[in-house]
Order: sequence, then C-alpha cells, then structure tokens
Amino acid sequence: MNLADSEVVLSILSDDGYEITKNENEANVILLNTCSVRDNAEQRIHGRLGNLKRLKNGDEKVVLGVIGCMAERMRDKLLEKEDFVDVVVGPDEYRKLPEYLDTAFAGAKGIGVRLSKTETYDDIVPYREDGLSAWISVMRGCDKFCTYCVVPFTRGRERSRSLSSVVSEIRELSQKGFREITLLGQNVNSYNDNGNDFADLMRAAADVDRNIRIRFTTSHPQDLSDKLLYAIAENENICNYIHLPVQSGSDRILKLMNRTYTIGHYLNLIEKARDIIPGVSFSTDIIAGFPTETEEDHQMTLDVIEKVRYDGAFMFKYSPREGTKAYRFEDDVPEDVKSRRLTEIINLQQSISNEINQKLIGTEEVVLVEGASRKSENDLSGRSDTNKVVVFPKLAGINRGDYVKVKIRKASSATLIADVIGKVDFLENKVVETA
Ligand code: 5AD
Ligand code: SF4
Repeated sequence: MNLADSEVVLSILSDDGYEITKNENEANVILLNTCSVRDNAEQRIHGRLGNLKRLKNGDEKVVLGVIGCMAERMRDKLLEKEDFVDVVVGPDEYRKLPEYLDTAFAGAKGIGVRLSKTETYDDIVPYREDGLSAWISVMRGCDKFCTYCVVPFTRGRERSRSLSSVVSEIRELSQKGFREITLLGQNVNSYNDNGNDFADLMRAAADVDRNIRIRFTTSHPQDLSDKLLYAIAENENICNYIHLPVQSGSDRILKLMNRTYTIGHYLNLIEKARDIIPGVSFSTDIIAGFPTETEEDHQMTLDVIEKVRYDGAFMFKYSPREGTKAYRFEDDVPEDVKSRRLTEIINLQQSISNEINQKLIGTEEVVLVEGASRKSENDLSGRSDTNKVVVFPKLAGINRGDYVKVKIRKASSATLIADVIGKVDFLENKVVETA
C-alpha cells in the first residue's frame, strides 16, 4: 500500500516540477513514507531519520519529511521528538505536498494531517517505473476497527474509487505493456462504487486485457463473497490466490480482536473456496501473543495452520499501538513467550510451505517472466499463478513480460526450480471452468 502511495506522491511532485533521484546525497527533498502497524516499523524510521539528519548540514537547503501513517499518528509529536524534520504529511493530504514543501523551503514546518472521507487520488496516474507489474489502489481506509490495529486511525474511513477510473487505468497499463496488476485496499471486499461491488470490479478488470494477470489484496474473512469466488473461478487471468488473514486460531482471541468471525466460519469459507476454485492457494497473517493468549489459544493457531495448509504467511508478534482498543488491555504475554510462539508458528508454516512445494515437483505452471534470477545471470525468474517464485534456465527468445509454461524439477519452501516447456499465449492456454 505504501509503495503504491509513494508512486502517487512521485507523480504529484513530478507534475510540480520536481525530478526524481535515487541518490540521497543529491536530493533537496527526502520523504520517508512510513508504516505504523507495528512498533518496530516506527523504530526503523527513527533510526533512518537520525541517519539522514547529516544531509541537512550541507550548503543547499534539504527538506526532510515524514509522510504516511506515522505522520498521521504522531503529528506534532514527531516534531517534538525530531525537530529537524520539516514536513509531516498524512496519507490523505498528498495533493498538498507541493505547498507543504514550499512552506518548508521558506523556513517553517509543513504539517498536513487531515483525514478525508472522499480522497481517493482517483485522477492521479501513479509514477511507475517497473513496466510489468503495477498496483492499483481501489479503495482507501478501513472501518473494521480490529482492536489491535492502528490503520482505521491513520488511514481514516473506507472509500472506493470509481469502477470506470480503475478500468481506464488498466486499459492504459495494458497499452504500455504491463502484464500483472494487483488491486489494493485494506479491505477490498468493502469496495462499493454505486452498487458495483468488488466482484464486479474484478470481472471488469479481468475483461480489459486477457493477457494481464489480476491479483488482489487484502480480504476480510467476514466479507469475502461467493460472488467473488465465482469471479475468480470463471476468469483464467484472475490468479487463484487469496490472501485471507486469520490472525488467530482461537475464537476467544478473535472476539477480543473484534475480527467478527469464528474459526468454524473461516474454515467453511476455505472449503467453499476450494470447491469453487480448484487449485486455489491461500496465504494469511497471524499475530502471536495477543493479550491474554494462553498456550491453548496458541495451539489453536497452530491447528488452524495445519488444517488450512497455507502456501505462505506473514507472521508477527503482537505490538501494542496507542489509541487502539487493545492498547487498554494489558500486554500480558511475556516477550520470551511471544518470541517462542512466533518461532513455533514460523517453523510450522515453513515446513508446510516446503511440503506443498515438494508436491509440485513434476507439475506444470504458467509463469510470467520478470527477468534475471537473483542468484544467477543464466537463469530467469518469475511468478506462478499462485504467486510462487519460479527459477528456470534463460533460453533464447524468452523475455521479460512473456508467459512460459514450465515443469517443476526441484523445490524449497521459498522457490521452485523448473525446466521450460515453452512460451505460451496466456489466452490459448486457458481452461475456463464455469461454475
Ligand atoms: N501487532 C502485530 N501485528 C499487527 N498487525 C496489525 N496490527 C498489528 C499489531 N498491533 C498485522 C495483522 C495485519 C497485518 C497487516 O499486520 O496481522 O493483518
Ligand atoms: Fe486493520 Fe482490521 Fe482494517 Fe485490516 S481489517 S486494516 S487489521 S482494522
């Protein structure tokens, strides 16, 4: 989400005459786009700011700014703590960044932290370098108020972009040769544009160019509709991959988290999705050590991981966030217990990812070629439909942006090694299953 927002910011600033440099020593403006979801993300920003401070000692004026959720959450307090910061601008005020920068160049502090009920940056074409994969933010904010989460406070209320503007952005990306698009929102299942829901948006997105793969994130288990599952099943270019954060395996903890579903509901949903979309894979988010979490609760989380058999997971220790409801609960799971539980969760997930990948040996996958592999110039890498990194030998005639069919030869928990069968026309390769 922040990477997508940074592209919006770069677009706004380049329209205002700024040029982009990758070299911090030569920049007159340095903005850190920040995340507040856990304390360690914020600590890294404090460290980074301390580091960048030295750049303000040169002859030319350098404006240093903090944007994003940490700006929204800390506001003037950030300036008390780090008085050399010139600009503090939250996620809904990026249009005014040029003004805040002018204020800062004039020697005052530029502070913009007003949240909006309507801002979607709908008409701004993000500054995209990649040329192959793009994010499109389709809704902003979150109204779920999970008790541990700062996002509803830093990103404000839910609001959706218009379906037509998303579709025309995809059309432009198609003309520019993009091959993969991820529709983004804190809770995409709440998307609503005058009665068009997220499933309608996904169908419309998939229709623009059948050679563009469509991905999406993030879904809330309470709101993921059958209609969306059918949209995924019926469109070959919508990836069979659902990120569905479970957070905990214990109904008692889920209730304390205000997650509004039970594990029974969650597992039924997974089963239904697997019925409707054969071969669908799942990833999840898990929090270890939420207040009052017992060994039994923790065991239930391990159980749900075993039951679902996720392809992958993002796993975190609970981090109390000021202003959230859970902040008023006692953070009573000791640090060493949190760490041990997190390690158990990570180890279990890794062994499951590995087992799932081993079973893929001998099977065929369609991969979008992204470029040279990280480890060897003689190999290419790309991603499968279910978002797995696949590495295969570089062959003449196969280029970045092509779809290739490969046969998996070897696997680890993180990567698949494959042989190339041949280039495929993504369209012709499709097998459409209509439910
Ligand atoms: N502590 C730990 N993890 C958190 N997340 C959100 N808030 C917190 C917190 N206070 C995790 C959730 C969410 C993901 C984006 O970050 O798992 O799904
Ligand atoms: Fe945070 Fe819950 Fe909204 Fe996700 S759904 S952004 S965890 S409040």
